[in-house]
Amino acid sequence: MRIHKDLKMAEVIHMNHHLLPVLNRFDIFLGFGERTVEAVCRDHKINLDFFLEIVNTFHDPSYFPLRHLQTFKASMLIDYLQKTHSYYLDVKIPEIGQYITEIVQTSGFEESHRKLVKNFFDQYQHELTNHITKEEQGVYPYVLRLEKVLESTLTSHEILEDLQKYSITEYEEDHDDVESKLFDLKNILIKYLPPVSNYKLLNLILHEIFELESDLNNHGHIEDLILVPIVENMEKELHSRYADHGTCI
Ligand SMILES: [Fe+2]
Ligand SMILES: [Fe+2]
Repeated sequence: MRIHKDLKMAEVIHMNHHLLPVLNRFDIFLGFGERTVEAVCRDHKINLDFFLEIVNTFHDPSYFPLRHLQTFKASMLIDYLQKTHSYYLDVKIPEIGQYITEIVQTSGFEESHRKLVKNFFDQYQHELTNHITKEEQGVYPYVLRLEKVLESTLTSHEILEDLQKYSITEYEEDHDDVESKLFDLKNILIKYLPPVSNYKLLNLILHEIFELESDLNNHGHIEDLILVPIVENMEKELHSRYADHGTCI
């Protein structure tokens, strides 16, 4: 069942509690009372259509309304994507990191196993941080600059330079998949570590990694299938706007 505007927000969480962190990215926190999705979105000044599409893509991975999602403003997507990044780096990764430190210290693993798990996770954390930094310091600001110029009638010389130097196609081609490494980490835990007495902690780590992996999957789809085509259109529009003005770029 899809999530729709007349459902109570509390019912949404009963339907799928994995949506809680997604709601938090919209600055929606618990304590909904009897308010509907529409009422909560109105109170928080959130675009209802955008909210519904995002939570539904999360709720049902087979639901991905490409065309509709591509009608939203790039800045709206970026705001959501940045909050998702914060959730990964400030909440999820430190949480998993803490569990991994605990299992490494208390499991009685031999040195080679301890190193394998710890080093693999540290390397993953480093790669994810780099990936996110590149997006937040390079790609997202570029997209926001394009949107700003498109929304005005002004010609920005800086944008001309941007368009000459960069294109979102570069991002599309370089955009690596940060989930596949998690698959390898899961396999280390599932296949190669010997059984441990504190198996509950190991189960918990696995559960958290599965959750992070599916969240990253949704995030990557939004970047590749929604953000990139939106920006391609913005670039085309700017190229033709400047060509109309007789500016050669
Ligand atoms: Fe991202
Ligand atoms: Fe990404």
